[in-house]
Amino acid sequence: MSAIIIDGKKIALEVRKSWKERVDRLKQRGILPGLAVIIVGNNPASQVYVRNKIKACHEVGIHSELIDLPEDVSETQLLMTIENLNQTPIINGILVQLPLPKHIDVNKVLETISVEKDVDGFHLYNLGALMSGNTIFPPCTPFGVQCLLEYSNIPIEGQNAVIVGRSNIVGKPMAMMLLQKNATVSICTSKTRDLKQFTSLADILVVATGKPNLITSDMVKPGAAVIDVGINRLEDGRLVGDVDFEGVKKVAGYITPVPGGVGPMTITMLVANTVIAAEQANQA
Ligand code: GUN
Repeated sequence: MSAIIIDGKKIALEVRKSWKERVDRLKQRGILPGLAVIIVGNNPASQVYVRNKIKACHEVGIHSELIDLPEDVSETQLLMTIENLNQTPIINGILVQLPLPKHIDVNKVLETISVEKDVDGFHLYNLGALMSGNTIFPPCTPFGVQCLLEYSNIPIEGQNAVIVGRSNIVGKPMAMMLLQKNATVSICTSKTRDLKQFTSLADILVVATGKPNLITSDMVKPGAAVIDVGINRLEDGRLVGDVDFEGVKKVAGYITPVPGGVGPMTITMLVANTVIAAEQANQA
């Protein structure tokens, strides 16, 4: 058996079409959704991500502004920039690309973004509201994973979902979102003793640890849906996930490739959250 490859690039383009229609409807009412993206310093990976986010906005007709701040910008200056954007009506969404330089308190930065403009879903309010199932903006990567599962008609309710990774950006919110959909959820970390004991029970396995080849074929239940959120650059320059793709695809029922799996969906959900922010700011 060979797994169905979940083509994130293709699904992302399809899903973006429906969000473009919502942008067009806003434009017919004279409303142009706007996203501000703040980048601090010259992290090459962040620059690529930011460029792709701006490009995706452009493609669906969202106005975007890139605010490029130097590595040594003060925390006060960054917070003031965010506060100004909070007060700018044409900006519906604010995203601060992470990671930030060490002299800046990332929590302070994320809490300064107005909840109504927190399209990354990283504000404490949005993270906390996931617990009650009432978040305004789900964080984009787990939201993208959920969308991939739904688009591929993979059932969630009643299924065993195992998440490997407990980050605030992916693992923890992913767990809450799948729990909300009535999956039976386990959260593991790369340090979990006998990880295989857990992963081999998973009908849905979501992996986000940043450790190449952490998940091998012997750890996967035949027919499982394996979602690889990892992006790792190997010494030979290759980009790989956390899952041994070639081995696991022989066992799994569904698998996402890296690149071209979860990544394009993360950006699509940012577009989605920005459109939702604009709709909510302009409720008739
Ligand atoms: N750095 C890595 N992933 C993300 C993301 O989804 N949003 C932001 N703001 N920074 C990131």
